[in-house]
Order: sequence, then C-alpha cells, then structure tokens
Amino acid sequence: MKLKEKILNLLNEKETEFISGQYLAELFSVSRNAVWKAVNSLRQDGYNIYAVQNKGYTLDGCSIFTGEVIKSYLQSPVKIGYIPNVTSTNDIIMEYGRKGSEEFITVVADSQSNGRGRKGRIFYSPNNAGTYFSILLKPNVHFSESLYITTAAAAAVTEAIKQLYDIDTEIKWVNDIYYNGKKICGILTEAHVDMESGTVDYAALGIGINVFEPEESYHQDIKNIAGAAFSRSMFDNKIRCEITAKVIDIFYEYYKNLSNMTFLHTYKSRSFLTGKNVTIEKNGIVQKAFVKGIDDRCRLQVLFENGVEENLLSCEVSLSL
Ligand code: BTN
Repeated sequence: MKLKEKILNLLNEKETEFISGQYLAELFSVSRNAVWKAVNSLRQDGYNIYAVQNKGYTLDGCSIFTGEVIKSYLQSPVKIGYIPNVTSTNDIIMEYGRKGSEEFITVVADSQSNGRGRKGRIFYSPNNAGTYFSILLKPNVHFSESLYITTAAAAAVTEAIKQLYDIDTEIKWVNDIYYNGKKICGILTEAHVDMESGTVDYAALGIGINVFEPEESYHQDIKNIAGAAFSRSMFDNKIRCEITAKVIDIFYEYYKNLSNMTFLHTYKSRSFLTGKNVTIEKNGIVQKAFVKGIDDRCRLQVLFENGVEENLLSCEVSLSL
C-alpha cells in the first residue's frame, strides 16, 4: 500500500481527530517531508485535509462533494447523479424528461457554466462554493398549479437550513431565499406542458444554493445582492452534501402531498416581503404598493398606492427604499 493510502486510511479511521506529522512519520517509518508530500498529493486528489499548527492533520470525513456522499444522507427514494461541471442541471433534467426517464432523477453539479434564473438571467454557479441541482418531476397537475412546485421547494430550502443549522432564512416571493438581506438561493422550475390538456408533462425543478462565498468574489453585477448561507469551515463539503440531501428529502415530502399544500404555513411564515413597501412592475407598468402577505394560493397580496388591492400571481417585485 502506498504511503498516501496508509495516511488516508488512518485519517479516515480517526474521523475528526488530529494526527501529527511526526506521529505519521514515525508510524510509517518515513520522513516528515514524505508525509507532507503524501498529504499534498491527497489534497490534489480532492481530499480536504486540514493542517492545524501544534495539532496535526485531520480529514473532513465527507471531504468530497459527490453523489455517493449526498446519497449517504438521503432518506427519500431519489436517484442522484453527480456531474462535476455542467452547463445547467436544468438542461440535463429537461433532456431526461424528453427521453421519458423516471420521476425524481436528480442531477447535482459542483459548478454550472451556464446556470440560469428566471427571465433568462444568469445564475452564477462557481465551483466549490454552492450546490446546484435539478429534479425531474411528473406532477400531473394543471399548469396553473405548477407554481406550487417552486413555492414548496422554497419552503423546503428554508426548512432544511433551519433543521440542520438552526438558521432562519426568508423567502422573497416567489422563488428566492434571503439571509441577512442577501440572496443565498434561487429556484427555477421549467416545464413541458401539454397544450391540449393544460397539464404539466414533466418539469425540471432547479435549485441553486450559495452555501459559501465563492473562492473568487461575486461578479460585479451581483455583488450587492448575492450572499452565502455559511462561513467556510473545516467541513465545507459535508455541509454542501447534507444540505443538498435535506432539501431533497423535505421537498419530497411536500411534493407527495402537493395539492394539500403542507408547505404553505412555512412558505407564508418565512415571507420576506410581508409588511414591506415594494415597487411592482407588471406588464411594463411600475407601481408602489404595500405587501399584506401571501394568500392560500401562494399569490402576493398587495395594496397599491391608489387603494386597489390585488393578489398577484406573477410580477417583478423589489423593495422600495
Ligand atoms: C433565479 O435566481 O431566478 C433562479 C436560479 C435557479 C438556479 C438553479 S441552479 C440549478 C438549476 N440550473 C440552472 O441553470 N438553474 C437552476
């Protein structure tokens, strides 16, 4: 067995314990320099081995962001495929949909070269920072109800972050998650609709979470808007894997009972816009309004400046300054 394999096995065995370079050198009868080289070679292979002064080395037990590790956290019967680099996970899932693949096939990526959001906007998806995944759904609902896929997913993201890390995030109607005033997650559901019946044949539910700040800073255009859910720690990849699995599991439960809208309470209670003054753009007309809340069909309840009340199904909303 090669030295690097011996070191990896030992670090794996000791889980979160630190092992000093001196100890490893003595145990395997090699020089400290040979240990250092082997550790670096393991890092190049993708293992997150941390070195802390006066303590030694430790391995992030879940140090690789892959489908296998995500699966190990997963409770729901969802098939995960991991592809390090893709154009867009939604593209891949829509292709699966066209080919008639089975429901719940999920593709997770470490980065996307052409990640997209609503209205054709770019969704910045750098490697080693977030989790970008899409799930193939065959919801058998009328097109008018397909909004609930997105809203259930938004509720699932906030619930997953709460359950795992006790962090309270907010949902900016309809598909964005905010934390500390910054967007940390976007959701895009794209669907193929049967025009005759008005039902959804298949849909790609795409979720992108900025788990950590990117290694290079955010693009100039989104610097003031985008944020991350967590500060980097020793267990970055573990967090990315477990959050992916948790969101999928919670969404799966909501989705099974989509028409019962079991996600609705969470969706409403986490509404970022409720009680705020906003600017609304609809059909090219810009108006100021006050947000009264979210109704039972996930529509935004607003009171316009002219006293008219409306429950909106779709429009562009921004906070008024
Ligand atoms: C938005 O901000 O308007 C929605 C962003 C959705 C991003 C996710 S990441 C996974 C999936 N693939 C994409 O290209 N987009 C979605």
